[in-house]
Amino acid sequence: MSIRVLPDVLISQIAAGEVVERPAAALKEILENSLDAGATDIQVELEQGGIKRIKVSDNGGGIAHDELALALMRHATSKIASLADLEQVASLGFRGEALASIAAIARVQLSSRSADADHAWAVQVDGGQLAAPAPAARGIGTTLDIQDLFFNTPARRKFLKTDATEYAHCAETVRRLALARPDVAFSLAHNGRVQLRLNAEPAAARVRQVLGEAFESNTIAVEAAAAELRVSGWVIRPSAATGSRDSQHVFVNGRYVRDKLIVHALKEAYRDVLHHQLNPAYCLFIELPPDRVDVNVHPAKTEIRFRDSRGVHQFLFHAVERLLSTPVEGAAPVVQQASPLFNPFVVPQQTPMPLQVNEAMAFYAPLAAHPSSGAPLSLPVAASTEPAHDAPPLGYALAQLHGVYVLAQNAQGLVLIDMHAAHERVVYEKLKTALDARAVPAQTLLIPVALTVDARDAAEISPHLDQLRDIGFELSITSPTSVAVRAVPWLLRHADPVELTRSVLREIAEFGVARLLAERRNELLATLACHGAVRANRHLTLPEMNALLREMEATERAGQCNHGRPTWFQVSLKELDAMFMRGR
Ligand SMILES: Nc1ncnc2c1ncn2[C@@H]1O[C@H](COP(=O)(O)OP(=O)(O)OP(=O)(O)O)[C@@H](O)[C@H]1O
Ligand SMILES: [Mg+2]
Repeated sequence: MSIRVLPDVLISQIAAGEVVERPAAALKEILENSLDAGATDIQVELEQGGIKRIKVSDNGGGIAHDELALALMRHATSKIASLADLEQVASLGFRGEALASIAAIARVQLSSRSADADHAWAVQVDGGQLAAPAPAARGIGTTLDIQDLFFNTPARRKFLKTDATEYAHCAETVRRLALARPDVAFSLAHNGRVQLRLNAEPAAARVRQVLGEAFESNTIAVEAAAAELRVSGWVIRPSAATGSRDSQHVFVNGRYVRDKLIVHALKEAYRDVLHHQLNPAYCLFIELPPDRVDVNVHPAKTEIRFRDSRGVHQFLFHAVERLLSTPVEGAAPVVQQASPLFNPFVVPQQTPMPLQVNEAMAFYAPLAAHPSSGAPLSLPVAASTEPAHDAPPLGYALAQLHGVYVLAQNAQGLVLIDMHAAHERVVYEKLKTALDARAVPAQTLLIPVALTVDARDAAEISPHLDQLRDIGFELSITSPTSVAVRAVPWLLRHADPVELTRSVLREIAEFGVARLLAERRNELLATLACHGAVRANRHLTLPEMNALLREMEATERAGQCNHGRPTWFQVSLKELDAMFMRGR
């Protein structure tokens, strides 16, 4: 076959394969056009999942009579005129390709009226064949009515899923754009039934409408700026995260994007507070100058490229990580309100007793500074005259419940603490700090313990004994299948050395020493912390419990254990009063 130039309609049909792979993609293009045209009210009507019909009406600026045909032509756009414009592009569209692509594979009617026109005009295109514009009736704005998508490209039509699935994708598209533009009213109807109606509203209200109250009440607001970067929005509390990846919404300069770099930055920010099988949910709006991001890298414009991708990664990671690492989130500010005590029956200085250092040592000391540092243990001693509203955020311990929970009293009321989970976090953070400072003190065992191991494990660790010593484990290989443990990390000296060493060997077998000590380091420390943390059914004295509370207050991310479960709950006096129907 000789080389020939393809006819325009065929070119558009080929392009349509990339731009509009399904009804939701066509809908996205049309909605973006409406937003680019300055619409503040957009109505969407779908039939049969959008396959039969997609009709979008807006109240934007409209298209002039003599430009109607142009709007449907390939590479015809009002949004950019030069490469410089492309680099600064602030509109959602810029290629002049969407309408031409859609018109090549569907029956399209475009009717529009611009502000200065006496009446509207409509043009009809059937699979790329354009008819002459005819007068029509409508207010200022544009209506695009797309019927029988893919009617002339049956191969593509076959790839469509059920109406319900296609509808779900369309609805998701509307929801995303609605999140991006809370200032615009949207309505969505499917097969004649209204599915969604959103008025223009503040961003927080829109998020509640679109993502639900459960999302809103389980999230923390993000707001950070650095140089030319800004991020705002909401991220989920670690304790409310689920396995689903559906609720990850990111907008860059108002454009919905799926960006691996951003997903990674967020995953990293949650790494320490979330079990690896859970995914964070978030809705984030990132703003940066348009020339710092290339939006022209993907046919559907959902992928972008940042000029300074490292910078963006760092910025997002730190903004979110900082937010999640606040020690004892929420407690401190409430205490600062120092409201008069709610309950006249509260005896403020009931519980706190001066800590007896010796008694507290058994439990507390392993968490404290390395003994050789010579730093005196600074145990916060509660003066018995202290009024309760000056009490520390987590208050003072009252008792231990069933060997699992610590009960404490603070200014707001009752605090319930999962002692293992809380202690696990405290030990974990201390291990990390010690390792970062390259000072992991070891506790030499009085009598070394011997372990029978797999020959492969012994071979794997033998070249790395020095590195293991750096993290506090002193091991020696006593035979091809036995290892002697001579020292364990001092922070973990109360844990069972055999169990501890076995869990290190298990991780080494799976990941190898090098990976374990580099990228898997925190996972390893988390496992160790779990061994080192106080076990259920271990009796704690009040000073030990108080020591734990003070440690929690001083520890980053103390609100969740290493697996993302909450470590403590506040039950306020108000809630208790309500429980007992105490009116006052
Ligand atoms: N709802 C609308 N209101 C006003 N003008 C519109 C509307 N839809 C399309 N247009 C005009 O038609 C032109 C072509 O639209 P089309 O979507 O094909 O291209 P684009 O938006 O410029 O770029 P892209 O292909 O990236 O979407 C636009 O540049 C715009 O001038
Ligand atoms: Mg467009």
